[in-house]
Amino acid sequence: MRNKYIDLINQTFDFPQEEFDVNAQGELSFHGLDLSELLETHGTPLKITYLPKISENIQKTKAWFQNAFEKYNYQGQYFYSYCTKSSHFKHVLDEALENNIHIETSSAFDINIVNALLESKKINKDTFVICNGFKREQYINNISDLINNKHKNCIPIIDNYEELSLLEEQIDEDFQVGIRIASEEEPKFEFYTSRLGIGYKNIVPFYKRQIEHNPKVKLKMLHFFINTGIKDNAYYWNELHKCLKVYTSLKKICPELDSLNIGGGFPIKTSLGFEYDYEYMIDEIVYQIHTVCNDAKVEVPHIFTEFGSFTVGESGANFYKVLYQKQQNDRELWNMIDSSFITTLPDTWAINKRFILLPINRWNDNYERVLLGGLTCDSDDYYNSEQHSNAVYLPVYHSEKPLYIGFFNTGAYQESIGGLGGLQHCLIPQPKQLIIQKDKEGKLTTTVFREKQTHQEFLKILGYEN
Ligand SMILES: Cc1ncc(COP(=O)(O)O)c(C=O)c1O
Repeated sequence: MRNKYIDLINQTFDFPQEEFDVNAQGELSFHGLDLSELLETHGTPLKITYLPKISENIQKTKAWFQNAFEKYNYQGQYFYSYCTKSSHFKHVLDEALENNIHIETSSAFDINIVNALLESKKINKDTFVICNGFKREQYINNISDLINNKHKNCIPIIDNYEELSLLEEQIDEDFQVGIRIASEEEPKFEFYTSRLGIGYKNIVPFYKRQIEHNPKVKLKMLHFFINTGIKDNAYYWNELHKCLKVYTSLKKICPELDSLNIGGGFPIKTSLGFEYDYEYMIDEIVYQIHTVCNDAKVEVPHIFTEFGSFTVGESGANFYKVLYQKQQNDRELWNMIDSSFITTLPDTWAINKRFILLPINRWNDNYERVLLGGLTCDSDDYYNSEQHSNAVYLPVYHSEKPLYIGFFNTGAYQESIGGLGGLQHCLIPQPKQLIIQKDKEGKLTTTVFREKQTHQEFLKILGYEN
């Protein structure tokens, strides 16, 4: 009988894959990185950011758009923008911006990051800064300052009726805006219409009322974002069509309108069985935009995207050691990890998100079904299923043969949601964090971004130390 862990993977998936391989000793590599060696050097728990993946995904996307534009003789341009909220770290932005891209922001302090990037010349006045989000005083002030400092390519996206007049009060000269369309949510969602943006039917009346005869404001962009992502299903294509109808109606009365922003929402790999044809989706989106605009006899728009997860998600990985196995009854085997899911991968706990989970060593050993338990005393601190299967299988626990596990493609949103530094549930310290990057000769270098959290940090926050 074939009951080694490696057999299970070979029987379930095509393996090895582009980024994963296993050596004869049963040890996993990720983008060619020897993970066992990495964990031996740095210990666990550990988080890494493998920066080259960011550039790779950006370049792939640009090429897919380029191919589709050539195929349909599309007369607009493509602007890749990075949605900063998925990971605000400087090293992430520095890597992403090496690829001549633009930025999407969501709140006031994002503009402070934009200013820092301008100062360090990572971006310049030609960089588009697309400002989404519900805007109140501080955000309005920061956006206005940026525009008043002649950053004409800063485009606030109007999310509610009041924002335009608030911006007009603060901005000295002419400026450009976008309008966000509030999409209809997927039928199974709890709400009917997204709270973000302005409803389809109200866009043209809003334009006529507040922008058409306003000498100070030009409408440049229509923005639409589908919460559930870009998927090849009737709901997505239907929403895109509704949006394109609004675009063509507006374009006929607003010649300055020249851009369509289709937001973020590209999925990332959450299982070794993941299948998604990115190139086909981009081809089809470009084709739909081209066709609807041609039928309506209006010029095609420039296309903007704001991929967050897709830009940075696949650059991240978290590693843990299995500390001990608890058998609570004859079916439930708990492998206890040396950290917490709630604090280090909050999406697994909050929205039941799954990531690729693989052992780092012992692939040649037999496997067993287990539950993974976090170190906090919270009964919800567990991980018990994968994207492709309602169970977790790992090499059999052995007290003399340590088992290490990795969660992959964890680079988006986890720190922004869980927080970095500060108090942690049950004072379980945050892991050491590494940055791995490629220099111009293609050589990989590893730097420590942050050491594991210390008890002093907790005690200081809690008021025990000055
Ligand atoms: C307006 C907007 N753009 C882009 C994104 C990025 O989405 P994703 O990370 O799915 O690409 C979001 C995510 O919430 C968003 O709200």
